[in-house]
Amino acid sequence: MKKTRLVSLPNLKEAAKRNPEEKSLVEKVDSKPTSFLVSWGQGKTFCIRTYGCQANVRDSEILRGYLLALGMKEQEEFLGADLILFNTCAIRENAENHLYGELGRAKEAYEKNPETIIGVCGCVMQEEFAVKYILHHFPFVSLIFGTNNLTNFYSLLDDCLEHNENIVDVRSNSDLVPEGLPEGSQARESKVTAFVNIMYGCNKFCTYCIVPFTRGRERSRKAEDILAEVNCLKEQGYKQVTLLGQNVDAYGKDFGDDYAFASLLEKVAQTGIERVRFVTPYPSDFRVEVFDVMAKYKNIMPFLHLPIQSGSNSVLKRMNRRYTREQYLEIVHQLRERLPDVFLSTDIIVGFPNETDEEFEETLSLVREVRYDAAYTFIFSPRPGTPAYFMKDKTPMEVKHKRFDALKALIDEQATARANEFVGKDVEVLFEKVSEKDPSRISGYDPHNKLVHVKGDASLIGQIRKVHITESHTYSLLGELMDED
Ligand code: SAH
Ligand code: SF4
Ligand code: F3S
Repeated sequence: MKKTRLVSLPNLKEAAKRNPEEKSLVEKVDSKPTSFLVSWGQGKTFCIRTYGCQANVRDSEILRGYLLALGMKEQEEFLGADLILFNTCAIRENAENHLYGELGRAKEAYEKNPETIIGVCGCVMQEEFAVKYILHHFPFVSLIFGTNNLTNFYSLLDDCLEHNENIVDVRSNSDLVPEGLPEGSQARESKVTAFVNIMYGCNKFCTYCIVPFTRGRERSRKAEDILAEVNCLKEQGYKQVTLLGQNVDAYGKDFGDDYAFASLLEKVAQTGIERVRFVTPYPSDFRVEVFDVMAKYKNIMPFLHLPIQSGSNSVLKRMNRRYTREQYLEIVHQLRERLPDVFLSTDIIVGFPNETDEEFEETLSLVREVRYDAAYTFIFSPRPGTPAYFMKDKTPMEVKHKRFDALKALIDEQATARANEFVGKDVEVLFEKVSEKDPSRISGYDPHNKLVHVKGDASLIGQIRKVHITESHTYSLLGELMDED
């Protein structure tokens, strides 16, 4: 077994530190590999497994860019690959457990070929106990790094190969905003839609959430760098950009500008790219100016994912969400006043410690009042290191599951009714990919983020076409392609 070099280990307490005086620094990344790495990579294969949210999807694209530049080829299956990377998510316990199951399978790959480089990165690696667990149970893992030192990937890999040792290098904090990351469209998941980070990290510290610990403090990219990326994507033929951040509407607060998101969104719309989306906004950071910009530009899609988490003020308080039910409803009202046609989705946590029947009823009543088009519902999962982890919880799991089912049934009922309203209408669909279930079908999204399938082939990918909707399901629509005018 190789020796392990511990360069740095994460620390959740360290990661929670926020110093408003610290300035974000642009880190100009030199993405050139050494000649040693290039000769190592030629003809070799890699496989990246990505878990979690869009932030991880984007990080994996950057890692893919690094590996492709070594002349390596990507493969779907990790068995047989020369390098396997697991980009992990720590948001709920089952995401983490899934990783350990996968690492068990990766052992097989290592036993077949002990030259295989197995790396683990992402949010789980920001937790000290998880790194220690991996070192103890999966000693064949050669590379452990975190969300704050992705851009060191080449030097980590170089060290690991040249010195034939396992490397652990996870930084708890970062003030850096990396620029100059691999740009080629071949590194991105899609040739049609692209994620663009506008900010990193989170300062909100909702009591249940691990993200402020795993992703560090909020730091925004400069508008000029974001716009350069959007323009470059447009030139490469991309039809849609989704601006990414944990609280996109807090964009620019670290430069001292509370209105920066509205002006950034406007500038992105003015690039003329066909479709602009953004995720995720935080309710109380919204400024109505953002809604005005959404109403003004047709290429900003009339869809908003606005997490509520709970409809009860007392639960919101225990969660440290910084708004009330009434304020949230007022935001929805102001939005719908300006964009009557907007579609809404949300995130809800059921079974937060000691949630009572009455508190849960308030969530149901809020859902009835808002009438969401979709909602992602989760049962509270205690995350070690977060305040909610230490809350004594008297609500039995059985009750939580019952509430979860009741909420899910209500949401599905509403979504089905809303989807049904599409039947007989014509919508514009941006086609993204051939359907996995039925290769004679092609799928895409309408401006409201409704998934639409039609009969068609891959030649439609990247096109925006009118579709006549003939059938609706809860979360998808079926339609027929209309003739081009
Ligand atoms: N920054 C975004 C979302 C981050 S995580 C926001 O604030 O809305 C995505 C979703 O996972 C959250 O909205 C929340 O609903 C859910 N989530 C986060 N931590 C969780 C936990 N410990 N247990 C269950 N669900 C959780
Ligand atoms: Fe987590 Fe809250 Fe930050 Fe969202 S806003 S990432 S839920 S701490
Ligand atoms: Fe998971 Fe990290 Fe995203 S914990 S949800 S991958 S920020």
